[in-house]
Amino acid sequence: MQVKSVFCVNFLLACVYSNSNLNCNSSESIPGLECSNENNTDSDEINTDVSLEHKDFLENISNITDTQSLRFATPCETPNLEITYCVEISKCPVLQNVRKSKKYAAYIEASRCGPKLENQNDFKVCCGRFNNFRNVSNSIDNSIFPKPCGVQKIIMRGRIYGGTTAALKEYPWMARILHKNSRGRKTYGCAGFLIHARIVVTAAHCIQTPTRKIRGEPYAVVLGEHDITTKIDCTPRNITCADPLQQSRISNVIVHPKYDENSTNHYNDIALIQVKKSFKFTDYVQPLCLHTSSDTTINKYYISGWGKTATEEASSVKLKLDLPPVDKAVCYDKLLTLNLEIDETQICAGGEDGKDSCTGDSGGPLMIRDNDSIHYAAGIVSYGIGCGLKNWPGIYTNVTSFVGWIKTEMLKMTLSDRQARILKKQQKKHEEKNERANL
Ligand SMILES: *[C@@H]1O[C@H](CO)[C@@H](O)[C@H](O)[C@H]1NC(C)=O
Ligand SMILES: *[C@@H]1O[C@H](CO)[C@@H](O)[C@H](O)[C@H]1NC(C)=O
Ligand SMILES: *[C@@H]1O[C@H](CO)[C@@H](O)[C@H](O)[C@H]1NC(C)=O
Ligand SMILES: *[C@@H]1O[C@H](CO)[C@@H](O)[C@H](O)[C@H]1NC(C)=O
Ligand SMILES: *[C@@H]1O[C@H](CO)[C@@H](O)[C@H](O)[C@H]1NC(C)=O
Ligand SMILES: *[C@@H]1O[C@H](CO)[C@@H](O)[C@H](O)[C@H]1NC(C)=O
Ligand SMILES: *[C@@H]1O[C@H](CO)[C@@H](O)[C@H](O)[C@H]1NC(C)=O
Ligand SMILES: *[C@@H]1O[C@H](CO)[C@@H](O)[C@H](O)[C@H]1NC(C)=O
Ligand SMILES: *[C@@H]1O[C@H](CO)[C@@H](O)[C@H](O)[C@H]1NC(C)=O
Repeated sequence: MQVKSVFCVNFLLACVYSNSNLNCNSSESIPGLECSNENNTDSDEINTDVSLEHKDFLENISNITDTQSLRFATPCETPNLEITYCVEISKCPVLQNVRKSKKYAAYIEASRCGPKLENQNDFKVCCGRFNNFRNVSNSIDNSIFPKPCGVQKIIMRGRIYGGTTAALKEYPWMARILHKNSRGRKTYGCAGFLIHARIVVTAAHCIQTPTRKIRGEPYAVVLGEHDITTKIDCTPRNITCADPLQQSRISNVIVHPKYDENSTNHYNDIALIQVKKSFKFTDYVQPLCLHTSSDTTINKYYISGWGKTATEEASSVKLKLDLPPVDKAVCYDKLLTLNLEIDETQICAGGEDGKDSCTGDSGGPLMIRDNDSIHYAAGIVSYGIGCGLKNWPGIYTNVTSFVGWIKTEMLKMTLSDRQARILKKQQKKHEEKNERANL
């Protein structure tokens, strides 16, 4: 039997599932969104671009025939920054073998990852390749991020798409986040940006209350959008038209653990969204690079979005704007007058010459561009003082400060996916065996 899951990309269309044929009932159509028929591919492969050595190692420690221990082996990070599984120490020879030696006691203690009241004889450890603090992993390199990134192929610019309107293929990493409330109503919330075929970065405040209260749980991510009022986005005179939108359901959301929804300072305003099905990279859907180096001089930032904050609507067409950086000390003093304090994990930009920092959606990227026109996310649109108020810079989450966290979480997601895949495969095998036995 072939199981198919059908869902409607336009959630305001009624979807009828009949013999794997999908009927869209467009009584309440939102242009630009289409019905689609999707095979059940929940276990889609994530790019497991961990170094081969690491992968090989993981096969060994998580002995994949041992379903029981794999089922409970959550991903973790070792004291020296390897991403691996949390398993009983008896299943971790690299630590078990040195358990009696005092020399390794501190490392083993730091490796513990189990619950507080666990079996003290066979407690859980985050089992990496090493047993000392010196061997800091270099396997967590940047290979988890897709290459190329930050590249766009604009087809129209200047005269026609002048001013603040983005061109059709401009900023193809801009994502829109769809929420679904308890009554099944779906609405768009914040923006975000694609950094991997299955991962979108957004602001933590876009996920937490009050967003959650207003819109419900984040439900899906839409890429490839330009004009939200047209079904297919085209250049004037229809010379070129964009591909249909791509949408993928959300499987996992990770809000930065130090984000405090009640703090007005909005530190750590960052979250990662993992989707079930990989986005396909096209001219209209591309990943953005992350700004990882801290020694770049930045003269200009760029933001994009539909001019929508968490609560209000504005433009139907994707907008863009460049913003000047704002001196940290000046910004600090300015915000202090409102009892707000910014720290080193935040960036100030805009607020000069009447430039409206509200043009960018919450959760969208604060971008920089290098000489080769490669775009990087330097920040995430976090908060501002009012909207379009002159002399009040916008505050952005400093992406560079969080690159380590992003990588760690991405690798953990990779391990969880791999685990789920193995378990699924084993279960299938098991079922087949039972079926045969019953015959
Ligand atoms: C579409 O919706 C209308 C009104 O809700 C209903 O009468 C009609 O049968 C539906 N069409 C299909 C193909 O489901
Ligand atoms: C679904 O799977 C079938 C057969 O496995 C394939 O032919 C078809 O193209 C798939 N459809 C989509 C939308 O991926
Ligand atoms: C994994 O196990 C195989 C077979 O036991 C061994 O040859 C290989 O060296 C191990 N790999 C690592 C990285 O430990
Ligand atoms: C893996 O499982 C096999 C069979 O159950 C067992 O013989 C072997 O010792 C296990 N290896 C590890 C590293 O746990
Ligand atoms: C780990 O560190 C020790 C001591 O610094 C070194 O001798 C050893 O070669 C390292 N092992 C690996 C696999 O890098
Ligand atoms: C462009 O195509 C759309 C949809 O196919 C159509 O509605 C519109 O009238 C066309 N515009 C022009 C200028 O041809
Ligand atoms: C934020 O404040 C609300 C209401 O005072 C409270 O219920 C909630 O637990 C607080 N959240 C955190 C993370 O402290
Ligand atoms: C952002 O963070 C990086 C790394 O922590 C730091 O070097 C850089 O100066 C910060 N940017 C701003 C504008 O504060
Ligand atoms: C970019 O171009 C400017 C001016 O042409 C030059 O000074 C700068 O070094 C270049 N930056 C890089 C990263 O190549």
